[in-house]
This record gives sequence, structure tokens and C-alpha cells, in this order.
Amino acid sequence: MSKLRVMSVFGTRPEAIKMAPLVRELAGREEIDSLCCVTAQHREMLDSVLEVFHLRPDWDLNIMTPRQTLSTITSKCLTGMDEAIDALKPDLILVHGDTSTTFAGALSAFYHQIPVGHVEAGLRTYDKYSPFPEEMNRKLVSAIADLYFCPTENNRQNLLREGITQGLFVTGNTVIDALKTTVRKDYHFTTEILNQLPYDSKKVLLVTCHRRENYGEPMRNIMLALREIAENNEDVELVYPVHLSPVVREAVDQYLRGAPRVHLIDPLAADEMHNLMARCYLVLTDSGGLQEEAPALGKPVLVLRRETERPEAVAAGTVKLAGINRETIVAMAEELLHSTGAYAAMAHAVNPYGDGFACRRIADAILWHFGRGERPEDFRG
Ligand code: UD1
Ligand code: UDP
Repeated sequence: MSKLRVMSVFGTRPEAIKMAPLVRELAGREEIDSLCCVTAQHREMLDSVLEVFHLRPDWDLNIMTPRQTLSTITSKCLTGMDEAIDALKPDLILVHGDTSTTFAGALSAFYHQIPVGHVEAGLRTYDKYSPFPEEMNRKLVSAIADLYFCPTENNRQNLLREGITQGLFVTGNTVIDALKTTVRKDYHFTTEILNQLPYDSKKVLLVTCHRRENYGEPMRNIMLALREIAENNEDVELVYPVHLSPVVREAVDQYLRGAPRVHLIDPLAADEMHNLMARCYLVLTDSGGLQEEAPALGKPVLVLRRETERPEAVAAGTVKLAGINRETIVAMAEELLHSTGAYAAMAHAVNPYGDGFACRRIADAILWHFGRGERPEDFRG
């Protein structure tokens, strides 16, 4: 029997971090040819992940331009994918999550009548414009996909409610598989400032913020709240690896740069980021991935958004929605800085998003779908 040609398509930093362990797992299966096509919707931030996880793409669309629009990303991906599919001739295309690369990758597979596996399927906020455009991207991919790899049972239930009943698997999130390979107690940072931070004597706050729906007024509020937190608390060191988006960089420069105890640094490599998270006191973020990683490391998270598609860690008590209002963000952070009870109530490790074996389940599910193995047991968080 010839090998199954499984092509993983991704383009941004979070997709790469979450797909890297899967590309590796698939490559380790003798029934599978694991192919990797990157759109490079992100360039530097993608290349950094490829380096950390030692991945060499078979195809690179190299589409990124400064201040790219949703339409240009999507159209360039679609055009580029035609060539990649013609050259690599996959039997199955895997896409991840909810970016423009994800949507265009799935749509392109459909145009070529190639089945689609959606990794990280079934997340929903039910607000069309938040997160934007991610909520619509994942809904559109749900309509196209044939296999759905849901991180949690809750995600599977979301799809069932939409009438999607076939091809569903609960696998856990592959980000936990990735995290298992990067976090080390004796990790030495290559970013020197991170070796020097006083993790024991002070409270290190880890911040990220980049979402499109936060552009403008919300991002201004968030930056001013972060400034206030740093100004008010001498025992705090705030570390913010700033996303390369020029829109984000402008907001940071305008409202946060120059504040005391604030370290604005370039995006970190994934292993640096994961180990920093493992050592910090508190995470403030609008990122999706950080909401999954920090709970596994026992770190409380304040989410700088109005809603979340990741309610599992909120239910487990390690994540709280802080919103986009300046006073509320400051008040919620201050509580976690000053009340040991409030902090202890959130700072416990939980793993609602996975046990580190998501990639194994996904590979097994693919082989089962093509009649070449047993159906895997679902992940039960
Ligand atoms: C994208 C995803 C978002 C995801 C985020 C992860 C879409 C629409 N958005 O948003 O879902 O949460 O990635 O970070 O798919 N840039 C660089 N170098 C890089 C990366 C970005 O210079 O390595 C700059 C470029 O000017 C680029 C801009 O950032 O045009 C924005 O990148 P883009 O992928 O369009 O949006 P993100 O906000 O990164
Ligand atoms: N991350 C990283 N370096 C950074 C910031 C984030 O490696 O400087 C990692 C983070 O640990 C997580 C992923 O990137 O695995 C999240 O990406 P991002 O926040 O850009 O996107 P989202 O998850 O919101 O889509």
C-alpha cells in the first residue's frame, strides 16, 4: 500500500508552535509521508518557530508584507496553494485553528477536492466580530472540514450543536505536547535580560497583546492600564515581548514606552517564551495560546478581551476575563498582586487542554479514517 501523503499547512507563529509536534509525529509513522507547506503569513515569527522545532518546510509561499490586509493574505494564500497542491499531491490537508492561512488553506483544499482535517476545531465565542476575523474563519473551516480534532469535549459539543456529527475526535490541544518539549527547570535564556530578572524577590508580569479587535481604543486602554500597574507597584517587573505588527508597536510606543519597570523586548522564541511563563508571577494577555499554556504551568491569567473561546480554564479558576476597560484591568491585577488568597486561588496547575498526547491521537485518527488502524480513545480532561 502506498504511503498517505498528509500535508500540514500553517503560516503564523501560534499555528507553527501547535503544528510542529504534529508534523513530527506524522513523520514518525511509517504509513505516512508528512509534508509541510508554510504560507509565511508571518515571516520572522514563523522562522523562529521552525528553528526551535527543527522543521524544514517542503513548500514556502512567502506571502508576508508589512501591514498586510485580510484580503491580500487570503488571496495570496489561495493562489500559492494551487501550486503547492499540484506539486506535493496530498491525500489529506491539515489546517490549524482560525487564522487567514487556516481559512485559505481549507478553501484551497476544497477547490482541489482534497479532504481537510481541522486541528483545534470547535472553539466558539458566537460573536461574529470578536475575535475578528478568527471566529468567522473557524466557522467557515468547520463547514469545509472532514475531520475535526477538538481539543476538549466542550469544543466537540459546540460542533454537535451546529449539526456536525461525523469525523469528530477529542484529542487535547497539541500546544501541551509542544510545551512538554520546551520547558526545563534548568533552562538558560539566550535573551540575557530574562536571566537577570528577579523572579524570587519581585513579581514578574508577562504581557502580550496583538488582537485586531483590540486595535485602537481597547489597545490604548490596555497600554495605559499596564503603565499604571507598573508605576504603582515597585515590586513588579513587567516583561512584554512586543508582536512585530506595526499597529501594535505604535500603540506600545505611544502609551507604554518609558514607564518604570517595563521591559519592552522583541518577540521571543517559543522555548524562551514557555520558560519565561514557567517562572513568571502572572500573565496578562489577549493571546489564545497563552490562555492554554499558562494554566498548565500553574500561572494565573488575566485575559485582555471581552470574551474567550476557551472557557475551560475559566471554569477551572486559573483564568479570568479582565476585559478592555482600564480601571478594571488595573483593579484585577492589583488584587492578584496584593491578596495572597486571591492569588493562591488561581495559581494551581490544571490541564483542561491536554495531556501531551494530542498528536498521537490525531495521527491515529487519521490512520483510522483511511482504514489503516484503530480509532483512538478520546482525551478526557
Ligand atoms: C495573525 C492572525 C491571528 C493570530 C496572530 C498570532 C489573522 C487574520 N490573524 O494576526 O489570528 O492570533 O497572527 O500572532 O490570520 N509582522 C512582521 N513579521 C512577522 C509577523 C508579523 O513584520 O513575523 C507584521 C507585518 O507587518 C504584518 C503584520 O505584522 O503585516 C500583521 O500580521 P498578520 O499576520 O496580518 O496579523 P497578526 O496580528 O499577526
Ligand atoms: N509566543 C512566543 N513568543 C512571544 C509571544 C508568544 O513564542 O514573544 C508563543 C506563545 O507561547 C504561544 C503562541 O506564541 O505558544 C501564541 O501566539 P500569539 O499570541 O501570537 O497568537 P494567538 O495564540 O493569540 O493566536
